[in-house]
Amino acid sequence: MKSILENRPQLAEQIADVAEVAGYLWQKGWAERNGGNITINITDVTDDEIRQKPAISERIPIGRTLPHLKGTWFFCKGTNKRMRDLARRPMENGSIIRITDDCSAYEIIADNPVKPTSELVSHLSIHNYLIGKGSSYKAVFHSHPIDLVAMTHHQPFLKKNVLTNILWSMIPETRAFCPRGLGIIPYKLPGSFELADATIEQLDEYDVVMWEKHGVCAVGENIMEAFDMVDTLSKSAQIYLTAKSMGFEPDGMSQSQMQEIKEVFGLPG
Ligand code: 13P
Ligand code: ZN
Repeated sequence: MKSILENRPQLAEQIADVAEVAGYLWQKGWAERNGGNITINITDVTDDEIRQKPAISERIPIGRTLPHLKGTWFFCKGTNKRMRDLARRPMENGSIIRITDDCSAYEIIADNPVKPTSELVSHLSIHNYLIGKGSSYKAVFHSHPIDLVAMTHHQPFLKKNVLTNILWSMIPETRAFCPRGLGIIPYKLPGSFELADATIEQLDEYDVVMWEKHGVCAVGENIMEAFDMVDTLSKSAQIYLTAKSMGFEPDGMSQSQMQEIKEVFGLPG
């Protein structure tokens, strides 16, 4: 069977990036079994032929209407599919969907009728929010990084910006490359509308948020950028945990040292 990626280098490159990141998530131990999910807004790289493709699934309701998704297409990891399989065979472990004209449902159009992730309502609600505010971000991903999730099992860390400040202070890169910090979302049922809504609320302020006792959710211009922010935060968490395991509380950079980075790098906020 001919893949939709054939003779479409721009789309193929985006899917290759998703596959590359899926491999990193598995290698890092952040993606047990089917853990985590990725969606990419591919509307910019669709052509007339893609836009006219017939559906290969029934119309599947999203459960809510997302008006800014009118005329959009997405690549989505399949539900219950493994990141390590997505890395090797992305079009067998994910699919391309288009949002129906009434913005309340989707249809799968390629390559195979692989049902999208169980977190689709969060992903699509986030894309709807991003488009609505005129953002150029195209990637949303969710993963289960061990170190960052472990830190959400401690209530004092869940107060606003406590984790942000600890992680920023571990290494200058985290302050510079994750400049909006880390939002916290109290535990909510995976795949729920409540989780989707709480996530959107936090994305007003942050590009990366923690789902308490579950995982991380990040947005970015592209999947590499979103992954890099979480990777940088995870590096800080590792430094913190390594210091603690050596038996001491890490000093952390001072507020004035972090302020200096903010000014020199011209960081937002
Ligand atoms: P899916 O396999 O449905 O993407 O679920 C994985 C997950 O991490 C849910 O939170
Ligand atoms: Zn999850």
